[in-house]
Amino acid sequence: MYYEEMPLFYRIRRCQTDRHNLRSIDLYDQSVIEGLDRLCFPEDEPYSVDGRWWWLVEDSEENPVGFAGLAPVRAEPGVWFLCRAGVLADHRRQGLAQRLVKARIAFAKSVGASAIITYVDRDNIASGNNLIKAGFKLCVPAYRYGGDFAIYFCLDFPRISKRV
Ligand SMILES: CC(C)(COP(=O)(O)OP(=O)(O)OC[C@H]1O[C@@H](n2cnc3c(N)ncnc32)[C@H](O)[C@@H]1OP(=O)(O)O)[C@@H](O)C(=O)NCCC(=O)NCCS
Repeated sequence: MYYEEMPLFYRIRRCQTDRHNLRSIDLYDQSVIEGLDRLCFPEDEPYSVDGRWWWLVEDSEENPVGFAGLAPVRAEPGVWFLCRAGVLADHRRQGLAQRLVKARIAFAKSVGASAIITYVDRDNIASGNNLIKAGFKLCVPAYRYGGDFAIYFCLDFPRISKRV
């Protein structure tokens, strides 16, 4: 059978979340994120959607194919945390995870973040490379919240001081 090559476009959108109540994510988006999470992390416990900002990647037919989250670090004002990101296997190596990181960086900057932190399992080469490509540097956290098998990354946003 002959299949005509179709151009495939992807769109990233931020899920609707109330700025003052991060728990109020749209219920449809929540179920999509939970479904993608199960497919991208089949061995993990379900990840809680609450209290985070979420982004979805959709293909040209609006099928969800990737997701990623971002959360403020309550103990460190101005610092945000990249949580969870996944792209369905058939859609990998097309720059989608990189676009998801950039979307979250842009959002964090727009709300005045001073830094973004995250961690990955030390065996997760793909995820570590993706962060390095986006400008993240290895760092030593004050507290190893990701456990002993995690490596930690940080992206600082330099403050521009104004001359008077
Ligand atoms: C990790 C993951 C999100 C990457 O998604 P992706 O859309 O394929 O990544 P991208 O195409 O945007 O790749 C961006 C960069 O990441 C790195 N990368 C991605 N996949 C890689 C792989 N399999 N091996 C090595 N480096 C890889 C590369 O540096 C790549 O840049 P390049 O294409 O110029 O070489 C995807 O593999 C995934 O969903 N894995 C399962 C879930 C997971 O581990 N999530 C991350 C931890 S929270």
